[in-house]
Amino acid sequence: MEKGHLEDLPSYNSAIRPWPLRNRRGPRRIIRFLAPLCLLFFGYYTYLISQNTAHPTNNLSITKLQEQHASCAELRRVPTGPVGPRSFSGRWVNGTKPVLIRNATVWTGEPAPGTSEEDARRGIGYSWTPSDVLLDRGLIVQVAEHISASSLPEGTVTYDAKGRQLTAGIVDMHSHAGLGGFASLGDDTNELSGDITPYVKSIDGFNPLAPELQWIKAGGVTTSLILPGSGNNMGGEAFVLKLASGKASGRAEISQQDMFADPSPARWRYMKMACGENPKNVYGKIGKGPFSRLGEAWEFRHAFDEARKYVEAQNDWCAAADRVGAENMADYLPSELQWESLAAALRGQVRVNTHCYTVPDLEAFVRHTNEFKFRVYAFHHAHQTYLVPEVLKRAYGGTPAAALFADNMYYKVEAYTASEKAGKILYDEGIQPVYVSDNPVLNSRHVVFEAAKAYSYGLPYHIALAGVTSKPAELLGLGESLGKVKEGFDADIVVWDSDPLSIAATPVQVWIDGAPQFEKPVELKKSLSKPTKPDTILQEDLTRKENGNVIFTGLTRDFLSANDIETTARGKVNVVVANGAISCVGTCDDEVKTFTANKQPIIELHNGHLTPTFTAIGSALGLVEIDAEKATQDGPYSEDSFARAIDGLGFGGKQLSTVFEHGGTRAISAPSTGSINAKGISVGFLTDGITSLGNGSVWQEEVALHYPLTQSSKSPSISSALGKLRTKLLQASKPLKKKDQKEVDPFSEESYLRQVVAGKLPLVLSIHKADTIASVIRMKKEVETASSKAELTSSKSKSKKLRIVILGGAESYLVADELAAANVSVILAPLLPYAQSWDQRRTLPGAPLTHGSAIDLLLDAGVLVAIGVGEVWETRNLNLMAGWAWRNGEGRLSEKKALDLVGKNIYDMLDLKAPSAKTDWAVWDGSPLDIGSRLRGIGSAGRTTIWI
Ligand SMILES: *[C@@H]1O[C@H](CO)[C@@H](O)[C@H](O)[C@H]1NC(C)=O
Ligand SMILES: *[C@@H]1O[C@H](CO)[C@@H](O)[C@H](O)[C@H]1NC(C)=O
Ligand SMILES: *[C@@H]1O[C@H](CO)[C@@H](O)[C@H](O)[C@H]1NC(C)=O
Ligand SMILES: *[C@@H]1O[C@H](CO)[C@@H](O)[C@H](O)[C@H]1NC(C)=O
Ligand SMILES: *[C@@H]1O[C@H](CO)[C@@H](O)[C@H](O)[C@H]1NC(C)=O
Repeated sequence: MEKGHLEDLPSYNSAIRPWPLRNRRGPRRIIRFLAPLCLLFFGYYTYLISQNTAHPTNNLSITKLQEQHASCAELRRVPTGPVGPRSFSGRWVNGTKPVLIRNATVWTGEPAPGTSEEDARRGIGYSWTPSDVLLDRGLIVQVAEHISASSLPEGTVTYDAKGRQLTAGIVDMHSHAGLGGFASLGDDTNELSGDITPYVKSIDGFNPLAPELQWIKAGGVTTSLILPGSGNNMGGEAFVLKLASGKASGRAEISQQDMFADPSPARWRYMKMACGENPKNVYGKIGKGPFSRLGEAWEFRHAFDEARKYVEAQNDWCAAADRVGAENMADYLPSELQWESLAAALRGQVRVNTHCYTVPDLEAFVRHTNEFKFRVYAFHHAHQTYLVPEVLKRAYGGTPAAALFADNMYYKVEAYTASEKAGKILYDEGIQPVYVSDNPVLNSRHVVFEAAKAYSYGLPYHIALAGVTSKPAELLGLGESLGKVKEGFDADIVVWDSDPLSIAATPVQVWIDGAPQFEKPVELKKSLSKPTKPDTILQEDLTRKENGNVIFTGLTRDFLSANDIETTARGKVNVVVANGAISCVGTCDDEVKTFTANKQPIIELHNGHLTPTFTAIGSALGLVEIDAEKATQDGPYSEDSFARAIDGLGFGGKQLSTVFEHGGTRAISAPSTGSINAKGISVGFLTDGITSLGNGSVWQEEVALHYPLTQSSKSPSISSALGKLRTKLLQASKPLKKKDQKEVDPFSEESYLRQVVAGKLPLVLSIHKADTIASVIRMKKEVETASSKAELTSSKSKSKKLRIVILGGAESYLVADELAAANVSVILAPLLPYAQSWDQRRTLPGAPLTHGSAIDLLLDAGVLVAIGVGEVWETRNLNLMAGWAWRNGEGRLSEKKALDLVGKNIYDMLDLKAPSAKTDWAVWDGSPLDIGSRLRGIGSAGRTTIWI
């Protein structure tokens, strides 16, 4: 709140008690008579005050009145974060050894001094610079090209960064870490006793022992804004915490208080609010209301109005106490605990952060800021902000930032009008995008990956990196202590094994307040790589076109053919597509001449990559359009009926078109509502298909038989579900009597089970838990033994093996050898799980915490592995997930083999024919396995789409 506003407030006279002396105009005699009494009275009065006792006429405690008067200064104070120069950080734990990080390549977080604002906006002036960095007393004390050994404080520990990239600790300004409970056991995210709970505090539910804190830190995240959930219009106070807890993290104790990023009692406060569907759904659906956005706006305005009245009453009291003295007040300072935090927000002491997606929500909230004169610092989720920058600019007190996901969208109707280009568009409009996790919605550990994708989608490189470091720090009011590698800033540092905006970048060490966070961090074998050279071409928009004939020039890698061109024709390599099929890869001189003469499109690439297209498996793509909207879905699988996905398939949605634009031309989906849990027969189809009737839109009507065996699917227990499945399979392995054969409905569950037992149809089981996988391996043997016995008696020759695929597989690495021995394959869905449920609790997090992650151990054991997805939106990142497995696989996978994880391997494990290399291909500028590549052409069953 602006200072002027406080001074403009009307006075509130009734709070002032009339002066005890009346008859001031009375006869002198009276005055003379009263004078000695007055003296006596004042003597007594002074005595009372000195004794801190009650006021003589109204019994109010003078001490309390004076204390309250003193607190008026506190009410008027506007906080500042820590500002330099500081000789030590308030968070410093005495005994933390000084650290010299030698030979790092440093990104400071701000442009070089003297850079014009215009240049900085374009990302000019930022750089990666060779530097040493000295940490002491919880601060960065020196950043210089060479810090001489003789100048070091006593006891300094030297860390050799070996030339690698160093940034400030990552700041995630939207996280619920520590509130949700490990494996979703226990949840303190939302206080759902009412819609307006500005008075609750996230810190009261925060668990400093939450295992996820360690994981998140393993992604370089050192500071998080821990927000209450978005179930309420006013969700409560939030806190900025550093993710160091207990002695192992260099702290003196395990405590919530010890984690405050700013330990000063005068620190900034924060509050979470939320607009739109969530409060409506939480309260409207149970008949309490608000039922609509109309009601929500009223809830907001009513609460702000109560807080405003409260602020005014307090201000009037303080003004009166200033005038007449606290001891002369007839009442205490108004105090209503319920409105204290919201009043502080109106006083400008609380940084309001609001979950708001849509234009009506954003605009209503901007109206609230103007009506009640408070500032909203960021809109979170904010998927429609890119459409209405002018609306944001009308907000009171300054334009709010947009706290975004890079490409997690379409999951609810509010997120259905979202754009991957939002960050770039907002930035061009002068609005700062920052990237957040909303942990556990995304794993906060990978919030840097969001910034990396934002760069790929057109946001300037340095601005994207600032979007998870310096910019969120500034929005939290901590821009002078966090988010930059600068003298006087907090010693929160990450040394990365590669550019943080490259695929799968992993910290090799993290410091918080100068204390190393990992005792023996596992370092991946990666050769030293230079920082990314920002490519401004990513900022240019491309237009999608259908065109059967096209030439791509400048091919550098070919992962489609048997041999990569690196080992064959080096030099000028072109790809010629004629009538929808690849007709030449090489110099192709004749074709180039003809195409040029016929004015066919020629697309020039700088670093062309030719790859197979990808196949999305594991999600309900094609059966679910908007995850949170039943009306857009085929519907859930049923316990007591049996379904084929082809019968519920829907073409033409945004989800399908998006995965297509990211290189996924094919999908395999089974009846489900969006998670990996599925039951029934899956279908294989084209993401650019038209209907299930024509033109090869469905390329495989029946792919596999699916059953769910995860924690979230159990009904009533995993053991009973497994038992039921075993019984069904054993039943199906009994030969049918001749007369019964024609009675069997070919589309019945029984009929498909018979195909499974005969080894003709794969069985896909959704499982995360190692023990359940072990049970399935036992069951496989039991069924195979039974069926071979049955076959012997029916005098058939060869015994059949069940073809089983595990979908999910978070804990599958624990039975890797057994899976290999039983010839059971695994589709990891997702590739990077994070113990979201109890049956995933032994998820292997990988470096710097563990040697390898699930995929590495499965590959080592010789298990056939593919990468699937858990949620529909993830289908747009198939290439990047393959890139992740490749980059962090320490040589286990070639690039071609990595691409097989989202293609060929799926076909191998499901016994399907892989798409033809002639008609199904993708051409990229840049490697699709890394950040910064773009799809420029794709062939899908002979149809060609290009981007020019
Ligand atoms: C002050 O307290 C006394 C004793 O409790 C009570 O009798 C008296 O009425 C009080 N006076 C006022 C003004 O409240
Ligand atoms: C840190 O601790 C040492 C040893 O206990 C003590 O001598 C020193 O004064 C302390 N420094 C500060 C700044 O408190
Ligand atoms: C810094 O690291 C690089 C890469 O490991 C190395 O080549 C160089 O010699 C190192 N420089 C110094 C000063 O140690
Ligand atoms: C099949 O493709 C042809 C040519 O592209 C088109 O004219 C026709 O409408 C399509 N049929 C269906 C059923 O989609
Ligand atoms: C193992 O399974 C694959 C398909 O998943 C199949 O092609 C292969 O023949 C099987 N091998 C054995 C030894 O059963």
